[in-house]
Formats: sequence, C-alpha cells, structure tokens
Amino acid sequence: MSEGSNTVGDIIVASHSGPLAGEVIVPGAKNSVLKLMAATLLADGRYLLTNAPVIVDVDIMADLLTAVGLRITFHPAPAGEVGQHIEIVNSGAITPVAPFELADRIRASVNLVGPLLGRCGEIDIALPGGDDFGGRPIDMHLRGLEAMGATFDVTADGIIGRASRLQGADIDFDFPSVGATENIVMAAVVASGVTTIRNAAREPEIVDLCNMLRKMGCRIEGIGTSTLIVTGVEHATLQSVTHEVVTDRVQAATYVAAVAMCGGTVHVARAVAEHMGMMLSRFTDMGIAFDISPDGITATAPDRLTAINVATLPYPGVATDYKPLIVAMLSVAQGVGIVTENLYPGRFRYVEELSKLGADITIDGHHASVRGVEHLVGAPVVAPDIRAGAALVVAGLAASGSTEIGDVFHIDRGYDDIVGRLASLGASITRKRLTA
Ligand code: UD1
Repeated sequence: MSEGSNTVGDIIVASHSGPLAGEVIVPGAKNSVLKLMAATLLADGRYLLTNAPVIVDVDIMADLLTAVGLRITFHPAPAGEVGQHIEIVNSGAITPVAPFELADRIRASVNLVGPLLGRCGEIDIALPGGDDFGGRPIDMHLRGLEAMGATFDVTADGIIGRASRLQGADIDFDFPSVGATENIVMAAVVASGVTTIRNAAREPEIVDLCNMLRKMGCRIEGIGTSTLIVTGVEHATLQSVTHEVVTDRVQAATYVAAVAMCGGTVHVARAVAEHMGMMLSRFTDMGIAFDISPDGITATAPDRLTAINVATLPYPGVATDYKPLIVAMLSVAQGVGIVTENLYPGRFRYVEELSKLGADITIDGHHASVRGVEHLVGAPVVAPDIRAGAALVVAGLAASGSTEIGDVFHIDRGYDDIVGRLASLGASITRKRLTA
C-alpha cells in the first residue's frame, strides 16, 4: 500500500469471466504476519519477515508498533518472491501505550497485550477493532493473563494492564481461541516458570508464531497440538530472527473458489494442502478436482458445483474465514447446501449483498440455507468485511454482466492485489480509483 493512499471510495468492477487458467502465487497470511510483527516486541535486535503480504492491516500494525518504539521499513520482495520484506528494529526503547485510533482499527492490536505486559509489565491500549461479526470479546485473553498475575482496568474505551513479572500458570481454555492462545504464549515465553495452555488453538498461523518464537530462543513444547507447554526465559536471552511468513490459506482458497465458480484449471502456487485439509476435502465433495504437489495445488472446476452441508469449526475444522466463499460457491451449485456458523453467529451480513446478485439464501439463526441458482446476475454491492468482500468479487466474476463492489478498503485489509492476481488468470476485473 502506498503511504497516505485513500482507497475508501475505490470500487472493483468484476465482469463475467471464465474459464480461468494459469498460475497465481499466494503470499503470506495476514493472520500470521500481524502476530509475528507483535512478537518482535519481545526481544531487541533486527528482524526480517519475508513473504509478508502487502495489505493495509500490516501498515496499521506497523504504525502501532512504531508508536510504541519499534523502527519498521518495508522492502519490495526480491525477484522470484512475492509480497514484501518487513524489517523491524527493536532497540529496547518501548513505551507500552498504543494509540487509540490505531488499535481501534484492527483486531490483531489485542496481540500487543501479551508481549507488552510480558516485556514491560504494563499496557495501555484501546479495545481492539477489526471486522464486525457481532460481539468479539477478549475475556479469555484477560482471564489467562490474570491467572499469570496481571491486573486490568477495563473501561468503555480501553484496557490498562499491569504486572510485575508474570508467573507461569495452568490455563484451561473453554474454547480454543486463536487470539487468546497467541497472547498467552507471547506473555508466557518471558514469564517466570512454566505455563501450560490446555485446549489451545492450533491453527497453522499459531504454529508459525510458535516456530518463530522458538527460533528466537523461546521454550515451547507441544506446537501444533492442543496442549502448549511454555517455559519462560529472561527476555534479554532472546534474539532477533529472520522468518518466512506461512502461506495464507484463506487467500489460497479464494483463488480455488474463483476457478470453481468461473470454470477452468488454475495452479495455486505455495498453497499448503496440509493446512487446508478439511477445506480441500469439502471442495472435493463439491466436485472440484485437485492435484497436490509440494509447490502448491492445482484446482480444476467441474461443469457445475454440487451442494454440500458445511459447519465452521476451530482448526482443523473448516475455518469461519472460508465461509463467505463457500456460501458464494453454493449459490450457483446444484442442490441445497446448509452452512452452519459456530464461531461468529453474526457473520452472515454479506448474504444480503449476495442476494442482490440473485443468490437464493435463507438465514435461520446461525444456519444459512443456500439453494443454488443457474446463474447470478451482476449488480452493485458493498463489501461488508475482508472475506465477504473477496467472496463478492469471486461471485461477481461468475455473474452475468458486471458487478461493482464498493467499500474495497475492507478487502485491502487482507488481500494482496486480488485484482491483479485474478486478472493474471484471465478474469475480467479492474479497480477504479475514486481517490479525491
Ligand atoms: C482470529 C482471526 C479471524 C478468524 C478467527 C477464528 C486474526 C487477526 N483473526 O480471530 O480471522 O476468523 O481467528 O478462526 O487472526 N472468544 C471469546 N472470548 C475471547 C476470545 C474469543 O468469547 O476472549 C470467542 C469469539 O467471540 C469467537 C470465538 O471465540 O466466537 C473465536 O474467536 P478467536 O479464535 O479468538 O478469533 P480471533 O483471534 O478474534
């Protein structure tokens, strides 16, 4: 993203496309890189994060970290790589106060709480923002840190936390929260003693974070399982590292959804099939054929998708972030598919927009019943959040005529050049700059 760009008014125009062909290279994951950036608070030195996506949330996290004292420089990826390199210098001069207007803009700002409390013994931060899926509480984050000795004053605007030195604790989550697991891990690596987290989340992005922390010298066992055992060390013994961000499985699935809806065969390079196991299995049930290789996955669309029933679950289940894509695909599939949302009951706001394209969707509580139609028809729509915005782009390519997608700034938060990547596959798609 160019500095100072104002993309609020931009639109994406997606016109009927297909079949798609060629290769798209997927960069690193938003949901990993933001946490890796936060982890650089823990130890002094110079870090390099490679394969980082060029997305607005990275810019916001960079501004947040700059405000608390880190120095951040972006470098274009060298030839043969995608995304960008993020160089972060931590000189040790950290002020644990995160400006309200920045913290309020991304969910991952909450990931500063663990490392800053662990490193500085205090934190003053706004309540996190991010996509609005309804209530997104952080009680598990705070309860876990309280078990480690922290105290919090929570007001309508923000959180002030204090701890002398955090103490290891036994923490049993009643739900495997991604953010709470990350926060507790980042606090525990510099706490005194051993912290055991049971029912921990085990998404590939958490594994990525734990792997980077381990390279820094942190002591973490059970990585990739639901029990993490963290033995704290003095932060001064940790070192800065170079780390490659894990591939974004949701961006990868977006290009699979595009070929599934538009027809054709596309190679999604760098997609890690192992991280997408359940999703690929459900996509296969819908009729998509996959060729898996160490370099990525090749997806071939069927003549028409077949409807399936899907429920979102914590990893290794089908992630809630895939759901808008699945609903878009079901909207043109043969038959009726029921999609059950188990993480964010309010995460169906894009259904109204898909309906404007002619999708036949009925919501009942946290279930969506999607009856496939023969064709979607282009119409003006608005992106309500990151993933839903991408789903509307993909649906627009499958619809007849043209679909104008507004509020593109949501998509920019998590997608690295979705327009350029889809166009390179032969899609008819452009972006109109409406910058004042
Ligand atoms: C992360 C991802 C988001 C993804 C989600 C689930 C980032 C920046 N965001 O969000 O894209 O959709 O994982 O895969 O990485 N909960 C509580 N109390 C808490 C914490 C969570 O009740 O203290 C609930 C939430 O309201 C939600 C569920 O637990 O219903 C899952 O939340 P969580 O796994 O924490 O998601 P995030 O880390 O916010």
